[in-house]
Amino acid sequence: MAESMLGLKRTCRCAELSEANVGQTVTVMGWVAKQRNKGGLVFVDLRDRSGILQLIYEETECGAENFAKAEKMRAEFVVAATGTVCKREAVNPNLATGAIEIRVKETRILSESETPPFHIVENSNTKEDLRLKYRSLDLRRPDMQRRLILRSQMIQNMREFMAGEGFLEIETPILCKSTPEGARDYLVPSRVHPGNFYALPQSPQLFKQLLMCSGFDRYFQIAKCFRDEDLRADRQPEFTQADMELSFVDVDDVIDVNERLIQYVAKKTFDLDVELPLPRMKWIDAMNDYGSDKPDTRFGMKLVDITDVVKDCGFAVLSDAAAMKNGSVRGINVKGQGGMARKKIDALVTFAKGYGAKGLPYIQLKDDGSVKCSFAKFMTEDEIKAIVERMGGEKGDLLLIAADQNKIVWNVLGALRLKLGEELGLIDHNKFNFLWVVEFPLLEWSDEEERFVAMHHPFTMPMDEDWHLIDSDPGAVRAKAYDIVLNGVELGGGSVRIHQNDIQEKMFEVIGLKPEEAQEKFGFLLTAFKYGVPPHAGLAYGIDRFAMLMTGAESIRDVMAFPKNKDAVDLMSEAPNVVDPKQLEELSIAILKVEETE
Ligand code: AMO
Repeated sequence: MAESMLGLKRTCRCAELSEANVGQTVTVMGWVAKQRNKGGLVFVDLRDRSGILQLIYEETECGAENFAKAEKMRAEFVVAATGTVCKREAVNPNLATGAIEIRVKETRILSESETPPFHIVENSNTKEDLRLKYRSLDLRRPDMQRRLILRSQMIQNMREFMAGEGFLEIETPILCKSTPEGARDYLVPSRVHPGNFYALPQSPQLFKQLLMCSGFDRYFQIAKCFRDEDLRADRQPEFTQADMELSFVDVDDVIDVNERLIQYVAKKTFDLDVELPLPRMKWIDAMNDYGSDKPDTRFGMKLVDITDVVKDCGFAVLSDAAAMKNGSVRGINVKGQGGMARKKIDALVTFAKGYGAKGLPYIQLKDDGSVKCSFAKFMTEDEIKAIVERMGGEKGDLLLIAADQNKIVWNVLGALRLKLGEELGLIDHNKFNFLWVVEFPLLEWSDEEERFVAMHHPFTMPMDEDWHLIDSDPGAVRAKAYDIVLNGVELGGGSVRIHQNDIQEKMFEVIGLKPEEAQEKFGFLLTAFKYGVPPHAGLAYGIDRFAMLMTGAESIRDVMAFPKNKDAVDLMSEAPNVVDPKQLEELSIAILKVEETE
């Protein structure tokens, strides 16, 4: 039996009450978190988004009818209670409202609940699939509520800051032209144009550049983006960007406004002080020191280049890599792990192979002063000593070495460093290390396509001082591109854009895009560019990643209300699903083949 709210009005949320309200009559409404019947006395923990409040029902005080209702209450019933705020005899220090309780005079059961599939508690260890299936229940959990409330505040604070800086919030289309920007597009068939498709935007990139052409000067949007890519803890098929573009600016202007944005949002939302200016690291230094373009600087264990030390050594794996074009030999010194068991080292070797290494030569510097080198038989003692010296090896250290193309060496050692940093407890989880990575290469060589591809996107401006290298050494040209990194995660990225036709044409030529193809793909942008383009630049944050890191969540799914699972499925609504053949017919679509997924 569910009662109506007629004549009742909620006066406040549960945890908005405190000792200051003692003596007042209040009406609260929420979900039963817990009910305990002590015979003649019923205690109910009432929960709403603000927190938990204890209700107390005493038969002599609330009367038989109200008491009977209290006795009937079970977890997740929605109830209303009117009563007096009283001081509690036994204070509960674990509860914000632990010093008070409501002595109820009148109560109503507004809605009953079946037994939920899991307990609605903080930090539930319920399997994620079950949580996602019953997401509305999962979202009632205090930690999920807290994170989503913080996310909301974070976005509000961003909007507030951006408005104060003169940014205009302008929406851009969701049904767009397919202009592949890296990931696969999600396509939407057109009914009125059979055989034609819209694409969902991977980002509002081209539209925001057009808005600059239109003279809006400073644009900002909380924008939904869609990318059909392999999912990970920090990747979802649809996600949200805080996207911006500015006219008449260069790299430093974008960095300046964004540093102040970060400082404002961190302080106002999370009471975190961020010291400015943020460190800036060149891409090449990030790769050389951390093996990553999104370095986690909360701990050391930097990569050490030993190419010159081993170039003439007897171990061909090392000397060959040293002689390779774009090859190198580097290592990491895992302090205090010289005594690591063979089995554990073997597991590291397997791990390294997963990142492209052919092997993982190592040197163990034992506590007793002895040295165990996995490639000793090819080396002289002096050659081993030179490596140990260069890597700062001391008694008790473990030196791990990678020798290959730079790309592989960075990848392998960067991944090992992160794995070991986490496993050995080297990461201070209270640190928030924001950092800019700047001066990215403009182009990267794609072995697969056997051509240069744009590292960021083809509208990224090269650095003025490198442009003369575009024909002789395209790989050496750096871009006016920047990423903002937090604790080893890429929070956002952006660049100054090309606004001169000649540079743009050259850029298309270098990446092998013929003028007709460029016209076909980006014609609408190129047309707009014929009529006066302001120099412009921009950046976009992944809001989900930002909220994940700032709230201490382990996955972006924990800061999104209704995420997809790792297979891009919404377990709650069961999307994607098979549609009615009639719908397909209207769209002139026939399904050729359905692969069994189970
Ligand atoms: P980029 O592709 O680097 O840049 O994306 C910007 C930021 O968006 C977030 N992000 C994602 N978050 C969750 N799931 C995903 N699948 C996902 N993909 C990206 C990341 C990333 O740093 N238009 C350019 C920006 C610009 O140049 O102004 C762009 O989209 O946090």
